[in-house]
Amino acid sequence: MVSELRALIAYLSYSGNTEETAAYIGDYLNKEGITVEWHRIGIDALNDPAMYDLVFLGTFTWDKGATPDEVKDFVLEIGYKPENMVIFGTGETQFGGDELFCKAAEKLADFYGSSYPVLKIEQSPRGSQESKVEQWLEGVLNYAKSNA
Ligand SMILES: Cc1cc2nc3c(=O)[nH]c(=O)nc-3n(C[C@H](O)[C@H](O)[C@H](O)COP(=O)(O)O)c2cc1C
Repeated sequence: MVSELRALIAYLSYSGNTEETAAYIGDYLNKEGITVEWHRIGIDALNDPAMYDLVFLGTFTWDKGATPDEVKDFVLEIGYKPENMVIFGTGETQFGGDELFCKAAEKLADFYGSSYPVLKIEQSPRGSQESKVEQWLEGVLNYAKSNA
C-alpha cells in the first residue's frame, strides 16, 4: 500500500536492543510505503518534528527507572511538545520488576501526552516479541491514518 505518511525514528541505544527495535520498526514502516528518516540521539542533527506525521522516540531505561541524559537533552533540544510522538522502549524486568520496567519510555509518553500506547520490549525484540512490535505498529498506523 502506498502511503503519504512521513516518519522520523529517533533513538538512543548503548548495547543494541533499542537500535534493533528501531530497525524493526523502520523495516515495517518501509514495507508499508512510509518514508522513514533516522535520528541517532546524541549524534545526528535534529530536524523539526513538525516535518513528520509521526515521530517515533525510543529509549532504554537506566539506573532505577531513569531516563538517559542524552534523551533528556534531545527533549530539551526539541523545545516543545509535538503532538505526533510515538514512544517505544527496551528494558529488563530483572532491574526492578514491572514497576521500573521501561520506566523512561513511560515517563516520556506521559510528558508528551502521547496518543499512542507505549511499546515495551524486554531486551532484544528478536524472536517471540516481533509479533508484539507488529501488532503495536498496526494499531499506531491505523490510528495515525484515521487522524491524518
Ligand atoms: C545499570 C543498569 C540499570 C538498568 N536499569 C533498568 C531499569 O530501571 N528498568 C529497566 O526496564 N531496564 C533497566 N536496565 C536494562 C536496560 O534498559 C536494557 O538492557 C536495555 O535493553 C538496554 O538498551 P540498549 O541495548 O539499547 O542500550 C538497566 C541496565 C543497566 C546496565
